Amino acid sequence: MPELKFSMLSAGRGSNFEAIMRHVAAKDLDAECISLITYAADCKAVDVAKQYGVPVRLVKGDNLLEVLQSENPDLVVMAGYMRKISEKVLEHFENKMINIHPSLLPSFGGKGCYGIHVHKKAIEAGVKITGATVHFVSKDYDSGKIIAQSAVPVLPDDTPESLAKRVLQEEHNIYWQAIRDFSKLQFDV
Ligand code: GRF
Repeated sequence: MPELKFSMLSAGRGSNFEAIMRHVAAKDLDAECISLITYAADCKAVDVAKQYGVPVRLVKGDNLLEVLQSENPDLVVMAGYMRKISEKVLEHFENKMINIHPSLLPSFGGKGCYGIHVHKKAIEAGVKITGATVHFVSKDYDSGKIIAQSAVPVLPDDTPESLAKRVLQEEHNIYWQAIRDFSKLQFDV
């Protein structure tokens, strides 16, 4: 039985969820996804959950804390969950909620910096390197303690879309490893 039980919070395309589940299925990530928690019943992440036999829990209104407490995961893994997490949820799951962001934080993070906007800003700023960051979720957007980062070059002819694609590949490379590292820290000390 895997030691680490995690719940996934996702409400969109679900590609990070899919990448993580591929590593769970391949057994190079010793963890069990006990639920996908979402507010979007027909999002692609739900299809991923079905494909991997992960139960789906639907959040209605403001009951995320209730749902999370009944699931009681060791770790909450967020990707593309576009709702602000309330302070009471953060209090209960302090240092147990992680998120992935498509830039090298603290650059290009914070309110309004999501999706394609992040890559537009990186190109506008003229940075030569961007990347992906896994971090703990905290009160302010994208400002929790950083767990893992990986750099991605910005090429001269990059568009926000081409850059987004390259960064996403890197997200898929690092997220499952960050979960593995979290699980080692939790259980090996
Ligand atoms: C990712 O780019 C992630 O960095 C951001 O939201 C996106 C989610 O994509 N927080 P997906 O649903 O995992 O495909």
